Amino acid sequence: MYYPQCNVVLRLAIGVLLITSLGRVCASSDNARSKIAGRRALENEANWHVAIVHEKHLKCSGSLLRNNIVLTSAECIKDLDILDLKIRAGSKTFKRGGQLRAVAEKVYHPQYNPAEHSYNIGLLKLKRSLNFTQDNVDTVRLPTAKRLELPTSVFVYGWGISSLNANKTLTRHLRVAKYRVYSEDICQSYLSAKDISNAENIFCVGDQGKDLEICNDDVGAPAVNKNGVQYGTISFGGKCSSQKTIIATNLVPHLSWIREKVNAWRGQNDIKTPVE
Ligand SMILES: *[C@@H]1O[C@H](CO)[C@@H](O)[C@H](O)[C@H]1NC(C)=O
Ligand SMILES: *[C@@H]1O[C@H](CO)[C@@H](O)[C@H](O)[C@H]1NC(C)=O
Repeated sequence: MYYPQCNVVLRLAIGVLLITSLGRVCASSDNARSKIAGRRALENEANWHVAIVHEKHLKCSGSLLRNNIVLTSAECIKDLDILDLKIRAGSKTFKRGGQLRAVAEKVYHPQYNPAEHSYNIGLLKLKRSLNFTQDNVDTVRLPTAKRLELPTSVFVYGWGISSLNANKTLTRHLRVAKYRVYSEDICQSYLSAKDISNAENIFCVGDQGKDLEICNDDVGAPAVNKNGVQYGTISFGGKCSSQKTIIATNLVPHLSWIREKVNAWRGQNDIKTPVE
């Protein structure tokens, strides 16, 4: 349930410090929970999640494959000059904290087509490696040959997680929401004919049955299983559309492409090998 009038009243209330009395009026509407979906990420959770910042604005999300390599969507990096991009790691806010790094190189899948979701992946190499002895920075794991099957649900982290009606696209603190992975049949009803012809490269997640209609605007954000193994990158967050469906590029068919690029960029300072 969402009560826009309570939202407006609550915002005004904060301005004039009437929070306590009005809080009671709105409490029954469950406003706090429906305004922004999911929950806040803990400080030491999803330490592989990074913000891709373009001229001081949040452009996209990404994940750390190594201390100097970020996995994200092709869409996020294709048309941008890497000189204008920065990566913030080790912070649950995209604006401050953690470690900020300049970008040295970018590469995206050669078959990427902006109208499709099947090859929407790309990588950034950082100019200087992140310092992994500092707090809240770590690499994500990718699926291994033993676990190539998609999980039944995924966790998606992002700053753009919001409820359908919240009309709010950014949260200050990283959030996480759990979504169901839809069957191929359901997923295909959201895809173009071209995407359906590459359906194995895509999966869809969401939770249409819930009152709390969640969506995620963070393109490039990782979709991970309960053990933090990344299966997808968010390709289309639905922009809180009425479809309530998030489209992810499936990483499983792309593992060898990712491995090849990561190995080509392998630096001397790498301390982990997440691509198993
Ligand atoms: C990494 O961070 C630790 C802890 O803050 C610091 O002691 C160390 O000097 C840093 N290493 C580099 C290479 O900056
Ligand atoms: C969201 O914001 C836009 C533009 O500010 C407005 O036109 C629209 O009606 C709003 N939607 C909701 C559900 O409040």
